[in-house]
Amino acid sequence: PDRDALIARLPKAELHLHIEGSLEPEMLFALAARNGVEIPFASAEEVRAAYSFSNLQDFLDIYYQGMSVLLHEQDFYDLTWAYLERAKADNVRHVEIFFDPQGHTERGVAFETVLDGIERALKDGEARLGITYRLIMCFLRHLSEEEAFATLEQARPHLDRIHGVGLDSSEVGHPPSKFERVFAKARELGLHVTAHAGEEGPPEYVHEALDLLKVERLDHGNRALEDDALVERLVREGTTFTVCPLSNLRLCVIDRIEDSPVKRMLELGLKATVNADDPSYFGGYINDNYRAVAEGLDLSAEQIVELAENSFTGSFLPPDEQAAHL
Ligand code: HPA
Ligand code: ZN
Repeated sequence: PDRDALIARLPKAELHLHIEGSLEPEMLFALAARNGVEIPFASAEEVRAAYSFSNLQDFLDIYYQGMSVLLHEQDFYDLTWAYLERAKADNVRHVEIFFDPQGHTERGVAFETVLDGIERALKDGEARLGITYRLIMCFLRHLSEEEAFATLEQARPHLDRIHGVGLDSSEVGHPPSKFERVFAKARELGLHVTAHAGEEGPPEYVHEALDLLKVERLDHGNRALEDDALVERLVREGTTFTVCPLSNLRLCVIDRIEDSPVKRMLELGLKATVNADDPSYFGGYINDNYRAVAEGLDLSAEQIVELAENSFTGSFLPPDEQAAHL
């Protein structure tokens, strides 16, 4: 229908994408063979069948296991390049991607191997596909504050290549307050800051992300809607939410796509955006996510355009570059 054509041709930015979550089963197999890594699956179909999750932790266990095939600079290049080609097909003009260095350094892969491969693909994407980028380093929140500080130290020589920090992995039991000092240091170093908050965790975690981490946007943020005063504040402050509809569905954050908070957020005056999170695990790239909510929530053309515009105004691009996309 018309709506799908609009979604296909709308220029958009993707603000919530874990590059390791774009590892398709076919590439998982190819890299396992190339690197001589054993994986407990016999076929790509078998892998896809294993992608059935009842919560965030279920997914994370498989997500960290999938990373085991990523060893060399070229692996990180190939992973990132495949995502960028896919993003290009969806008319994505700007990406702000997350990577999880601790998922690799704890396996003995050097921080620089990861950064070099991802960045080389991003630079090629800018030159050959016209997709601009920002790179956001996430801290794994199930690990300690000390380990996050050590990761920030590893990033220190490369701060001209990393634009921001984020916070991901198991949310409940690992509140933003655990990383208050690490984020203060990251801000002092001139990095942008964002954090996953209110995906499974309570509204209190969203308050902490704002007040203690001083995040510039909220990744997911679904459960902020349970707190009216918080919503009022987020409307007033114009905070961008990076919502991930198919992720929410596949991780049972919502029961049905009709329960996605995207439309309610827009109606409340919140700056919602639509993103894929971990597309190879959740069954869709960015336009699949737009189509799912457009149909499930019966979004108007104006609302679809608003989501795409919010993706640029909520980005870390300077205002003049944001404006060039509107
Ligand atoms: N939530 C938390 N951690 C993650 C996610 C997510 O959706 N994807 C990859 N790491
Ligand atoms: Zn995420």
